Amino acid sequence: MVTVVPVALSDPGLAAGLATGLAQVEAGMHEAAQAQHELLDETSAYGIDAGGKRFRATLVLLAAHFGNPRDPRIVPAAVAIELTHLATLYHDDVMDEADKRRGWESANSRWTNSVAILTGDFLFARASLILADLGTDAVRIQAETFSRLVAGQIAETVGAKPDQDAAEHYMDVIGGKTASLIATAGRFGAMFSGAPPELVDSIASACAALGLAFQLSDDILDITSESLQSGKTPGTDLREGVRSLPVLHALRVAGREDARLVELLSTDLSDPELLDEALGLLRKHPGMDLARADVRHWAGRARDLIAALPDLPARAALAELCDFMVERTS
Ligand code: IPE
Ligand code: IPE
Ligand code: MG
Ligand code: MG
Repeated sequence: MVTVVPVALSDPGLAAGLATGLAQVEAGMHEAAQAQHELLDETSAYGIDAGGKRFRATLVLLAAHFGNPRDPRIVPAAVAIELTHLATLYHDDVMDEADKRRGWESANSRWTNSVAILTGDFLFARASLILADLGTDAVRIQAETFSRLVAGQIAETVGAKPDQDAAEHYMDVIGGKTASLIATAGRFGAMFSGAPPELVDSIASACAALGLAFQLSDDILDITSESLQSGKTPGTDLREGVRSLPVLHALRVAGREDARLVELLSTDLSDPELLDEALGLLRKHPGMDLARADVRHWAGRARDLIAALPDLPARAALAELCDFMVERTS
């Protein structure tokens, strides 16, 4: 299921350039994922072929318009970012015991946890190899980004400390596990296009805010969406006991009428009937609208930062992406 993010339609030149760039990224991912082992070949190509929005590659390509978008380092940088992202998905599905990804059976479910973990490791290695050709800065930034991403995933696994505010902990988690790589996508695009350093930093900050809005919207969709729309099994967070922001809001404002929901949220939801009941109650709970307001807040913050960038068609496309985060959850 390839569902490319809906951007840049308003400028035909930019749309065409983006389509060409994304096709090159696709070819580059396949080329990079070739292994010396037939099973790794198969398992790596599997996740690439399953599709995905290529949101992070799109950001690299758009950010490159603030310098020279035809710099030969742009496409390899986008390939490395998407391979890193895909690697984290293989590992994440093991951690979340997810059975579906990108509309297909997840790799851990189709093969085993070990195969999924090794495929993720392999893709990280291939991404690093590409970045090594782009210089030590690229490798350093990627290593820092990946450390932050892993710190976010482990903070989610461990949960909030007893004295920690749960919503603050959640924002820390998503800043690490998701926004860090999305910020680096923008940074790489701008940096390798030769954009001035202040602009590189501004684009990275805007993408970080966009990344927060993106994960928040994904967490809302985990509750509201159908599998056909997301390509994933809804309710995975709840089933795994991960309290995302809509759940935290719901618990915070819960009244007497929410006794059943509160009870369910502190229960093991591996029973599909209980999970369905919890999802049904959450979907109509005011906590969902509070989370939607947070998406608007972070998308708005990203939009403000984007509005300060030079006035180019790519800026309008980035602004469209902010709207997309809000629209996909309204
Ligand atoms: C999924 O990312 C993981 C999150 C950070 C929410 P995407 O929603 O970008 O996944 P693909 O690449 O489109 O499959
Ligand atoms: C994924 O977070 C973050 C990373 C892969 C680093 P989630 O667990 O919320 O994402 P999905 O819903 O499985 O895509
Ligand atoms: Mg997951
Ligand atoms: Mg997860």
